[in-house]
Amino acid sequence: MYDVKKIRKDFPVLGLQINGHPNTFLDSAASAQKPQMVIDKMVNIYSKEYSNVHRGSYLLSEEITSEYEEARKKVQKFLGAKEDSEIVFTRNATEAINLVAATWGRKFLSPKDRVVISEAEHHANLVPWQVLRDEIGFELKIFKINDDGSFNPEEYQKSLNDNTKLVAITGMSNVLGTVFPLKEMIALAHQRGAKVLVDACQYIVHQPVDVVDLDCDFLAFSGHKIYGPTGVGVLYGKEELLSIMPPYQFGGDMVDVVTYEKTTFDVPPARFEAGTPAIVQAIGLGAALDYVMNLGMDAIKAHEDELVDYIHQRLPEVKGLKEIGTAAGKGGVISIVMEGVHPQDLAFLLDKEGVSIRVGHHCAAPLVHRMGYESLARASFGLYTDHDDIDRFIAALQKAKTFF
Ligand code: ALA
Repeated sequence: MYDVKKIRKDFPVLGLQINGHPNTFLDSAASAQKPQMVIDKMVNIYSKEYSNVHRGSYLLSEEITSEYEEARKKVQKFLGAKEDSEIVFTRNATEAINLVAATWGRKFLSPKDRVVISEAEHHANLVPWQVLRDEIGFELKIFKINDDGSFNPEEYQKSLNDNTKLVAITGMSNVLGTVFPLKEMIALAHQRGAKVLVDACQYIVHQPVDVVDLDCDFLAFSGHKIYGPTGVGVLYGKEELLSIMPPYQFGGDMVDVVTYEKTTFDVPPARFEAGTPAIVQAIGLGAALDYVMNLGMDAIKAHEDELVDYIHQRLPEVKGLKEIGTAAGKGGVISIVMEGVHPQDLAFLLDKEGVSIRVGHHCAAPLVHRMGYESLARASFGLYTDHDDIDRFIAALQKAKTFF
């Protein structure tokens, strides 16, 4: 049984008072809070176990190297990947996508090719492809979504042609909450001979993922959104692709033989982890994945789906409010506009009630503009969000209305 009250006690920040009110934290899509076991793990390493990895022939270094590589195995298990060598630690999902663009993209894309993305992409899965298009000259095709934010299968199928080399898609919109039918989309892209990269930053936090079942070629996510630390992210890549990709950055720990004249490079994942990595953060991410795997991603999804139903029952009580993005099966990302109230003012008034939300373009400016707005107010859920959070959010919205 999913005991959210008990789960909340694992997250110390949730117990804070904000402006004299209980902390109603509704900005987990930007960055999630951390359970005590992740914090403890990291403090413990810095206090009792710390040294560098892959370099020291002494006990501390050997032990922390094992822990770091154990964290990679936890990511492998969490994603259902075949090999731990398919897991590359990066700084975040943004770096993981940039890595694919700069290595696979530069090596394999040519001017006659097409790269397909959706209208719902975060800047991190739009800008790297724009910049590479300007360098190489391929076509960047952006397929349309429906006005309610839902996936449009016809538009997607129309965007695929025989020149399509890559489809780079979000699994779940960080603005609209739309969950994309990844398995079907990937199968269609593969029929055209295209590779598929999934930006799973939001998707992976809210439902189970199995990269073998999805059959995606690359998948990127950030540690800090899945209850782990900042500074670490993951690129999953199929072994046959990572092994033919050139390095992304150059330096220590990614080389094979170095002379003054010439250098050869290590195999993946080391090839893509130049320099001292985010050691403690990667191990902290491993602890966060232990935490969510222990709760069960299916149970987390069921809990959050129920909360989405609940907020949909309650939102109509607030007159003049409109939800932007109402696709069926959407996840716990609720973007709203309140008639006659600037989203920034709304966030300010909500903050006074201890309710933290995000406003703006959410690093997806073209999408927010395409939906007809300059700025949206967004409440987003985590595995610890509960009915009381939603009740306080609705009460704060009602109070905010009285000021206008
Ligand atoms: N991409 C993060 C968000 O949606 C930062 O807020």
